[in-house]
Amino acid sequence: MRVISIVGARPQFIKLAPVAEAFAGGRHEHRVIHTGQHYDVRLSDVFFEELGVPDPDWNLGIGSGSHGQQTGLILQALERVLEEERPDWVLVYGDTNSTLAGALAAVKLHLSTAHLEAGLRSLNRRMPEEHNRVLTDHAADLLLAPTAAAVEHLHREGLGHRTALVGDVMADVLFRVRDAVATDGSPLPDGVDDARDYVVATIHRAENTDDHARLSALVRCLAELPLPVLLLVHPRLSARADAFGISLDVGAIQPMLPQPYGSMVAVVAKSRAVVTDSGGLQKEAFLLEVPCTTLRHETEWPETLEEQWNVLAGDFENLPAIVTRRRPPPVAAEPFGNGKAAEAVIQALETYGTAG
Ligand code: UD1
Repeated sequence: MRVISIVGARPQFIKLAPVAEAFAGGRHEHRVIHTGQHYDVRLSDVFFEELGVPDPDWNLGIGSGSHGQQTGLILQALERVLEEERPDWVLVYGDTNSTLAGALAAVKLHLSTAHLEAGLRSLNRRMPEEHNRVLTDHAADLLLAPTAAAVEHLHREGLGHRTALVGDVMADVLFRVRDAVATDGSPLPDGVDDARDYVVATIHRAENTDDHARLSALVRCLAELPLPVLLLVHPRLSARADAFGISLDVGAIQPMLPQPYGSMVAVVAKSRAVVTDSGGLQKEAFLLEVPCTTLRHETEWPETLEEQWNVLAGDFENLPAIVTRRRPPPVAAEPFGNGKAAEAVIQALETYGTAG
């Protein structure tokens, strides 16, 4: 079986790591196309190096642009590459413009297409990620769902017959890196003092970054938190804050560059709380047992809300009290799988490949 993974943005490089590892040395051929959606070293190369993912076989170098332009350019460039490669399976990941373009390019060439992280829904139709994930699920031939809730969504949309529950590959990589960090004591980034309580924050969703008034209010609320706030600044946030003339270096906020994965896991594991609009970070906080506050009105990961390990704060009201709430009791369930999702992905491709 020849499989091609299409990735383009930071969370996809992290999800690719356990999949590439599971394929390595096995009997299947696995190749990787990087669309170039994320091109900063800190958002891209660093993850390949650190997580031991072989360099991509193709880099389309598409870069930034409006949604239509970025998606269209990736689609156009992929068509040529996929025509040449003609793999048995095309694997697309998550909910970015690279995901949608990858699924479209593949199905139009009648290539079997699998969507990893299928079935997630925010039910917020204004989010670009929601457009991408719904359209990708309806286009793909095989839907690899990370959670039981995702499977339910797919059944409700009439896609149950193409669905397989495989678990969450993000848990695979998190467990591996968490254990490595615990044994080799990965140093914390410069300026982080774990002798004092601190909060880790990230903001990058268009709904939070692209509206001047909302971004100002959000930065003000973070600046007023009663603990130091390590804000890992995504390029989208930095670009919008600059354009709006909003300083990120105010009050409790300590702006920092985006971190490599091991350093991120180390810094989150030692934090008092996480404040974020990232999907991945909500789960990482949950799995590392750090209380999380999500700066949105909804989440694709409702499992994290159990016992208030994650609390939605889309209107930023009472943020200091919510962020510094007491640690909830531990949760016994393992809603994101046991760390072996990547192997289940390969098994599902084998099963559906031979059946098709
Ligand atoms: C994208 C995904 C989102 C994912 C996120 C993870 C879409 C619609 N969104 O959002 O689902 O959660 O990645 O980070 O696909 N930029 C740089 N350097 C880079 C990449 C981006 O400076 O390496 C800047 C550019 O100004 C660009 C902006 O960030 O315009 C936004 O980048 P974009 O590719 O639209 O996606 P993200 O906001 O990162």
